[in-house]
Amino acid sequence: MPTIPRDTSFDSTLDVLREGFPFILNRSQRYQTDIFQSRLLLQKVICLHGPEAAELFYNPERFMRNGAVPRRIQTTLMGQDAVQTHDGREHQQRKQLFMSMMNPQSVQYLMEIMADEWRATAHEWEQQRQVTLFAEAQDILCRAACAWVGVPLPEADVRQRAQDFALMVDAFGGVGPRHGRGKRARTRSERWIRDFIKEVRRGDATVPPGSPAEAIAWFRGTDGEPFSNQMAAIEIINLLRPIVAITYYIAFAAKALAEYPAYRQLLRTVPRYDHYFSQEVRRFFPFGPFLGARVREDFEWHGYKFPKGTLTLLDIYGTHHDARFWPDPDTFYPERFRDREPTPFDLIPQGGGDYGTGHRCAGEWITIESLKLAVNFLTREVEYDVPPQDLSYSLQRMPTYPKSGVVLEHVRLVV
Ligand code: HEM
Repeated sequence: MPTIPRDTSFDSTLDVLREGFPFILNRSQRYQTDIFQSRLLLQKVICLHGPEAAELFYNPERFMRNGAVPRRIQTTLMGQDAVQTHDGREHQQRKQLFMSMMNPQSVQYLMEIMADEWRATAHEWEQQRQVTLFAEAQDILCRAACAWVGVPLPEADVRQRAQDFALMVDAFGGVGPRHGRGKRARTRSERWIRDFIKEVRRGDATVPPGSPAEAIAWFRGTDGEPFSNQMAAIEIINLLRPIVAITYYIAFAAKALAEYPAYRQLLRTVPRYDHYFSQEVRRFFPFGPFLGARVREDFEWHGYKFPKGTLTLLDIYGTHHDARFWPDPDTFYPERFRDREPTPFDLIPQGGGDYGTGHRCAGEWITIESLKLAVNFLTREVEYDVPPQDLSYSLQRMPTYPKSGVVLEHVRLVV
């Protein structure tokens, strides 16, 4: 029986910090393999790379999520005991709750709210010499997310709440102060939403009929019991936070527009170019580096042994930057999506496989539509100058975004 190729370092934790996003890709290329063994924080891990390995990773009979998400990620990014950490029937029932909010009408309603917010904010930008898109888009998306979910958000609180959602995301690859800031942001946000849920359940506050907040407040799980106030808050934040996180992709899209102004014309004239462009933003730019799961029971794959309980990482970034799956992978080239639909396993910035039965991101359609909306807004509804600034991003920082935050100057509404 072949043995899984082993990384030469005794423990690769420092290499992950040093190399960042391409950690798995680097070794996959060095050892010419889509699978290798390593050690992270002294724990044995199997690293998987590429679409075939992604298909294996998304087989729920082979892998489970319980025990795979580190506590430091649960206390910042996703919340403790959230949908991401469940398996089987419990997971499917919760996942259905999320997917029930993702029908075309519901997504369209969110897009209408978001479009209004972009326009209203751009009126204010006209009064300012410069604006930083990374922070501005967080506020826009936060207002839209709260209105769509059904959570009241006084205007005076927008900046703090939006920043808190961004800090939770910013904490996922951070140690020390960054982790601490993310944790405090989560504590504040959970308290805010928990108090709101209590009021709703007491009848002291109302939620719009048919809204996601209503569905979560009155949802009953496999045990027939409603969520605790805390759990309801965590799952509501599982909608609000990732909508605000789309800002990262919007900032990258604006960087691509600034660096290759020809895209503005293509976006205005070529049918569906907004779709190709948004897909390429999600392929090309880094967000999540890898995903983790644990082996459910001993099994073999291509003769390699996977022992029960082993932590296994799936390479997101590297799968998008391997020339075997994406020709000329380090070139930003939206046209690649003109003649090619992604498979469920080769374009995986938000996970792969099936939405209903697996862990693939519930908000992928919202993300694509929000990106298209932003790109269309930036190319059709406003004009602006881009002053000299540092639009580069680090591949070692997780998450990462253009260093300047994308500064726009002299924004003018054109419609
Ligand atoms: C899960 C990425 C936006 C809701 C995930 C996963 C990733 C991801 C990598 C995990 C997949 C897995 O565990 O296999 C992203 C990125 C986004 C984004 C990069 C955009 C910046 C959204 C939005 C929503 C959302 C807009 C909702 C409004 C969720 C939920 C899950 C999830 C509920 C858990 C799914 C499950 O465990 O079954 N996302 N996401 N995400 N995402 Fe997103």
